[in-house]
Amino acid sequence: MKKTLNVIFIGLGSRGNVYASQLKKQSEDVNFVACADIDPDKLTRFADKYGIPEECRYKSGEELLNCEKMADIAVIATPDRLHASEAIAAMKKGYNLLLEKPISPVLSECLQVAKTAEELNKSVIVCHVLRYTGFYGRLKEIISSGEIGDPVSVDAFEAVHYWHQAHSFVRGNWRNSTESSPMILQKSCHDMDILLWLTGKHCKAVSSFGSLTHFKAENAPEGAPERCSDKCPSYLSCPYSVENCYIKRAREQGFFGWPTDVVTQEKTLEDLEKRLAEGPYGRCVYHCDNDVVDHQVVNLLLDDNATVAFTMCAFTKAGGRTIRFMGTKGEIIGDMDKKTLAVHIFGGESRVEDTNAAATDNLGHGGGDYGIVRDLLGLYTDESGSSQSLTGIKNSVESHVVALAAEESRKTGGKLINIEDFIK
Ligand SMILES: NC(=O)c1ccc[n+]([C@@H]2O[C@H](COP(=O)([O-])OP(=O)(O)OC[C@H]3O[C@@H](n4cnc5c(N)ncnc54)[C@H](O)[C@@H]3O)[C@@H](O)[C@H]2O)c1
Repeated sequence: MKKTLNVIFIGLGSRGNVYASQLKKQSEDVNFVACADIDPDKLTRFADKYGIPEECRYKSGEELLNCEKMADIAVIATPDRLHASEAIAAMKKGYNLLLEKPISPVLSECLQVAKTAEELNKSVIVCHVLRYTGFYGRLKEIISSGEIGDPVSVDAFEAVHYWHQAHSFVRGNWRNSTESSPMILQKSCHDMDILLWLTGKHCKAVSSFGSLTHFKAENAPEGAPERCSDKCPSYLSCPYSVENCYIKRAREQGFFGWPTDVVTQEKTLEDLEKRLAEGPYGRCVYHCDNDVVDHQVVNLLLDDNATVAFTMCAFTKAGGRTIRFMGTKGEIIGDMDKKTLAVHIFGGESRVEDTNAAATDNLGHGGGDYGIVRDLLGLYTDESGSSQSLTGIKNSVESHVVALAAEESRKTGGKLINIEDFIK
């Protein structure tokens, strides 16, 4: 007989809701026992939707974790800097975890979460959702089959997308590294994770360059006020204005999906305009308290002298990831948005694989949101399921170490960082 999986949720924003809806979509054997958020609206909306009784609605993660254990799993989807303390407190109460990335922006805390999981024998799935996509899953299969020989070099690119940068990394939650995380960890721990996983190798040294070049006061158009709606002379022409990022699509196409739904949960033009006139997302992108980079390059030296060159950049028309994977017998050129993998075997045949078919649910990180929840359910409810998660804490920490080492290198002018020394 299948076991019911009891779950608590800490942090009921975008990600908490994604995991809740995936859990309900994929299994009838999940029971949402309690939830916590400091935002009363989000708490009520979530709890009402899933029928969680009044007495099981908590005003913070801390309050919920002060209670005795009441479920098998805790889903932790709060802001970055809370993850480690909540994860450790939850494990001490006896919970296994689905833990949003980053594990922590602080190296010692990342290592402490991993150590606690090992000592208490707790399962911690870190939400490196890319490993669960059909695209990267198939790429890993081809590489592991040996078809392109031994991986020697990888060239990977993450296009952030100009208005995604403005929304999340200039005006939004991840604009300031001391409040959240450095961008190479926040956005690209996924990339560090996937690149190490694909190569099947470890990183021994890192160097990095990057900076915040554009979203600064000195680049503001003449006469730009603090807020777009305060009669900015560039209101219509600036690609980053609230008109061009949010309002036009809402007015002309009725679009209130991501990221507009982060600004207004009511999803009306009136509420959107009011929130943009008053809230953080209405600020001029040249007059925010942002400090995270808008472009960064990272070079990795792997343990057998294979190399990885990775670039992340805000200034792209659309978001997405591309990769060129070079082995001793062939190369693979992949485009995650198109979901294609072009495989070229030296002196042999070439083919283009369409990985659409490999993804069960392509929505949400290319099927990754579906896949990570399937992995979680497999671990706990399906008796024939795997006993080890693809993104367990042990496999996930290295990406964070590498990302934090890259940030250290960037801040010290591209200094070469030896990973072993960095951990010490
Ligand atoms: N795996 C991925 O691909 C992915 C994608 C986006 C975001 N994330 C990560 O997920 C986390 C959450 O991101 P999000 O987009 O859902 O943000 P969000 O702001 O929508 O949600 C965070 C929620 O946590 C709540 N919160 C804050 N302090 C709290 C506390 N003490 N106790 C309980 N709740 C508290 C907030 O009120 C908010 O509702 C972040 O760490 C982010 O880096 C991961």
